[in-house]
Amino acid sequence: MDQGQAFVVFRCNINPYYGSAFKVALLDRWMVIISGPKMIEDIRRRPEDELSFTEAVQTLLQYKYTVGQKIQEDPYHIVVVKEKLQNRLLPIMTLGLIDEVVPTVQKYFPTTEDQWTDFNVVAASLKIIARVSNRAFVGLPLCRNEEYNDISVHFSVEIVKAGTTLFLFPDVLKPLVAPFISKVRQTTKRALQHLGPIIQDRRMAIQELGIEWPDKPNDVLQWIIDKAVEKHETDVEIVERLLLLNLAAIHTSSSSIAHVLYHLAEQPELLSPLREEIEASIDADGWTMSAFGRMWKLDSLLRESQRYNGFTLASMIRVAMRDIVLTNGTFIPKGTLLGAAAHPTHHDNTHFPDAHVFDPFRFARMREAGSFEGHLARLQFASTSPEYLPFGHGQLACPGRHSAANQLKAVLSYVILNHDLRLTDSKNDGSQPQRPPNVYVSLAVILPIDGIIQLRKRAVA
Ligand code: HEM
Repeated sequence: MDQGQAFVVFRCNINPYYGSAFKVALLDRWMVIISGPKMIEDIRRRPEDELSFTEAVQTLLQYKYTVGQKIQEDPYHIVVVKEKLQNRLLPIMTLGLIDEVVPTVQKYFPTTEDQWTDFNVVAASLKIIARVSNRAFVGLPLCRNEEYNDISVHFSVEIVKAGTTLFLFPDVLKPLVAPFISKVRQTTKRALQHLGPIIQDRRMAIQELGIEWPDKPNDVLQWIIDKAVEKHETDVEIVERLLLLNLAAIHTSSSSIAHVLYHLAEQPELLSPLREEIEASIDADGWTMSAFGRMWKLDSLLRESQRYNGFTLASMIRVAMRDIVLTNGTFIPKGTLLGAAAHPTHHDNTHFPDAHVFDPFRFARMREAGSFEGHLARLQFASTSPEYLPFGHGQLACPGRHSAANQLKAVLSYVILNHDLRLTDSKNDGSQPQRPPNVYVSLAVILPIDGIIQLRKRAVA
C-alpha cells in the first residue's frame, strides 16, 4: 500500500489491514498506526521506557522550549489529577459544579420563551466549559472572571501553535527561535496576574496555619500548590502546571459538548425522552452524581457522539524510546511516533452494528437489554476498551474522564431541561436542516467553527 492510500484508509476503512500496522503521512511527519485488540493490548502493556505517552505529548507540543525542562521531567500535576480527580472526591466537586452550571448556562445561552436565538455552538461551548472547569480548577471568584477564562483557553491555542511550528525546526535552532515563535510565556504571565495574589494568600495560609488549615480550598490549584510548596517551586511553575491541565480538560470537553448540542439541534425529537429520564433521575436523587449515574440515555448520547465524531483520528499516541518489536513481529525503530486507529475502529461494523449511523441511544438499549451481563459499566461514556478509544485505554487512559462525564452531564441536563434546540433553516426551503460536517486536519477532528444553532427557553406548562 502506498502512503497516500494509507492516509485515506486511515480516515475511512481499515478492514483489510485490521490487526496490523501501517504508516501514514501527517502534514509534517510520519506516524505508525496500529489496530485491533491484540495490538492495542500490546501497546497498552508496554512500559514508558519502551513506548512513552509523556514523550509523545512533549514531542508534539515541544514543552522543552515552551514551558521548560523541569515540567517535562517532573509532571507531578498529572499525578495530582490521577490521585484526586477520581471518584472519591467527585461527589464533593459536584456540589460546586452544579452551583456553577446554572448561572453559566444562563449567561452564555440567554433565551426567551417567545423567540429563537442564534448561538455559535463552538464559541458558546468553550465559554461554558472554561468557566465550569475553572470552578474545579481555581474556584470562586476567579472562575467567573471572563478575562481569566479566556486566558486559560488561549494558553492551549498558543501551546499547540508553538509546538506545531517548533517541531518543523531542527533541534539546534529550536532554543533560538522559540522566544519569537512561542507566546506561551506571555500567556502564562497574563494568567499569573490573576493567579499570583491567590497563590500568595494560600502560601501564607500554609505557613501560618499548617498544610491542613480550616476551610482550605478543594480545587486543582490548591492540590498543585501543596506539592509545589514541598518542592520549592515558583508561582510561575504552579501557573504553568495548572494551565497544562486546562489544556487537557477544556478543548476536549467543549468539543464533546458542542457535538452533542449539534446533534440535539439536528434531532430535537431526542429532547423528550432525555427530559423524561433527566427529570426522573433528579426527582429520585437531586442534582447529584448518583442522579447522573441513572441517566443512561444521556450517557449513551455522549458515548455515541464520542464514538461517531471523536476528538482525534488516533488515540494512545506514543513515542518509541528504543527499538522494539511488537508481538506480531512489526519492527518499530526508536523515535517512531505511533498511535491506535481510533476513528476507523469506532466506524467498524464488527464492533458497532451500522457503525456509520449516528444512533444516540444504542448503548442505553444495550444496557437495558443486559448486554455484557455483569459488566454494564463497560457501556458507559467513560469506560474504555480496545474498541472504544476516545479516552485512550489502560493505565494511561485519561484520568479526567469521570470528572468530564460528570461535568458534561450537568451542563447538558440543565440545557435540555430548560431549552428547546433546533438548527437554522439556512436553505429556507423547508427541508430538514443538517449539522455541518466535521473537518479533518492532520489527526484532529474539528467542529465547523462558525456553525449556528438556535435555542429558545422551554415553555413550562
Ligand atoms: C471529553 C473530554 C476528554 C477527552 C475526550 C479526553 C481524552 C484524553 C486522551 C485521549 C488522553 C490520552 C490517553 C492515552 O493516550 O492513553 C487524555 C489524557 C489526559 N487527560 Fe483527558 N480527556 C478529556 C477530559 C479531561 C479532563 C476534564 C481532564 C482534567 C484535568 C483531563 C486530564 C487529562 C490528563 C492529565 C491526561 C494525561 C494523562 C497521563 O499523562 O497519564 N482530561 N485525555
